[in-house]
Amino acid sequence: MTKVLIATEKPFAAPAVAAIKDIVSKAGYETVLLEKYTEKSQLLAAVADVDAIIIRSDKIDKEVFDAAKNLKIVVRAGAGYDNVDLAEATAHNVCVMNTPGQNSNAVAELVMGLLVFNARNQFNGKSGSELKDKKMGILAYGNVGRNVARIAKGFGMEIFAYDAFVPAEAIKESGATPIATVPELFATCDVISLHAPATPETIKSINYDLLMKMPKDAVLINSARKEIIDEEGVLKALTERTDLRYLTDIMPANHEAMVAALGDRYFSTPKKMGAQTGEANNNAGIAAANQIVDFIANGVEKFRVNK
Ligand code: 3PG
Repeated sequence: MTKVLIATEKPFAAPAVAAIKDIVSKAGYETVLLEKYTEKSQLLAAVADVDAIIIRSDKIDKEVFDAAKNLKIVVRAGAGYDNVDLAEATAHNVCVMNTPGQNSNAVAELVMGLLVFNARNQFNGKSGSELKDKKMGILAYGNVGRNVARIAKGFGMEIFAYDAFVPAEAIKESGATPIATVPELFATCDVISLHAPATPETIKSINYDLLMKMPKDAVLINSARKEIIDEEGVLKALTERTDLRYLTDIMPANHEAMVAALGDRYFSTPKKMGAQTGEANNNAGIAAANQIVDFIANGVEKFRVNK
């Protein structure tokens, strides 16, 4: 029987798991569940005889592909697929897909929540500031970036966006002001919200020089990937510029140093939780299950990322 493994170190909410199981069983397949695993050996054992895997930020590398002899498809229930070795997937004849857009509102709402939390001094009772009339700069105008723009507009913020792949005309049509370069975006905006994937071009690209361009009292917020941050450069800039703040949903390697040096000008969630809502779990989990059934039953490869 066709087996679909849900391998989630950070589990979906229970209703999403139930919805996935329902889709899988209606297709005549079996669901196998591996949640909150702590050792790679557990993942290697679980993949041994499965045809399909649904993952989140779980790392799928050569060792996993080697161990998964029947594997035909991996669906990353979410947007970013930097956790999957695409070359190895292709070499093992495995299709990799993501589920773009399905969890993007959840991440955008977390961004706005962290911004309010920061503007009100982490709710410590001291007089804070407001987001209205501030300039919101969105770096990478994809599904999450556009949702941030939509909600930030409701706060009365002015929206600016940079995207290497989205034409300026399309940014304009959405009601945001296109900005031609990343340094210009940093120099223009009171808030910079990062939504770029981790790629060779973006890794460590958010650095000291960019932060030093930011206007007084500006805020950098990262809900994308920690790899895009030059962590030492950001710490140095915030140490020199005591007006700046840094908020992140992906705890940096130098978290302790950030806390010690920056106090409440820095905040990290304890564990990446932007996409951690019941709604996002349902949306992404259900999309992943449907994509697997469509691929195995009908050969549909929409959303394939290792073309
Ligand atoms: C994504 O790429 O979809 C988000 O970063 C969410 O990741 P998660 O599923 O690990 O929470």
